[in-house]
Amino acid sequence: MVEALRTSACWLVYVSTDYVFDGRKGAPYDEQDAPHPISVYGRTKLEAEYRVLGYPRGLIVRPSTLFGPGRMNFCDRVAQAALAGITVEAFEDQATSPSFTEDVAETMHDLIVALAKGRPLTSRIYHVANTGGCTRLAFARRVVELLGCSPRCVRPVRMAALKLPARRPTSSILTTVALPPLIGRNLRSWEDALRGYLRQRYPVQGHMAESMR
Ligand SMILES: NC(=O)c1ccc[n+]([C@@H]2O[C@H](COP(=O)([O-])OP(=O)(O)OC[C@H]3O[C@@H](n4cnc5c(N)ncnc54)[C@H](OP(=O)(O)O)[C@@H]3O)[C@@H](O)[C@H]2O)c1
Repeated sequence: MVEALRTSACWLVYVSTDYVFDGRKGAPYDEQDAPHPISVYGRTKLEAEYRVLGYPRGLIVRPSTLFGPGRMNFCDRVAQAALAGITVEAFEDQATSPSFTEDVAETMHDLIVALAKGRPLTSRIYHVANTGGCTRLAFARRVVELLGCSPRCVRPVRMAALKLPARRPTSSILTTVALPPLIGRNLRSWEDALRGYLRQRYPVQGHMAESMR
């Protein structure tokens, strides 16, 4: 795409990932932190980032763990298992910033509008994830709690126990220093976004928790 656009005036917005980081920082990553991927996925996404940065009108958006309508994801796997009374495993040693696809899409829209208005870019890379972060275990427990299901539906597990084919960063929670100066806001917290999504996707019924209302 970079080659095809070379002679055009178009902007290219590339969706990258929090997995460009190795997870060893011990604090949330902002746009100024140096990437250091530990998987093939992370390395190829970073390689694509460099190509996009080599294009004068290239912009990079990094979300973290996505959840939202239209495609199976960790949040829906947990929700559907819990509603069916089935136990799911969730990593207690992997932390990310859950990112609601509708919030990510809306923010990308605002970024593109800012570009179209000629507002000065504060960066070529933007972290676009709901604010805050948590382990997969905490995320799964919150899903189950909001749906009013039994906490026993979520079983903690460590990544090493599952012999994953690819390494994942232990903590790739994202924060942003570049986004608010450009669009005047940050995203809402992941917990607010999750509550909004579950209310939309699994409409409140008698058995649902009071916290969903
Ligand atoms: N999932 C996450 O938690 C997460 C976290 C951080 C960043 N990201 C990034 O966010 C983006 C979306 O993630 P995702 O998990 O939804 O990815 P995905 O499941 O791989 O889907 C990405 C989309 O790209 C399309 N696609 C894949 N390969 C293609 C190809 N060779 N040619 C044309 N279209 C192709 C897919 O089409 P089909 O629908 O036809 O398969 C799908 O619409 C990716 O760039 C990913 O790196 C994801």
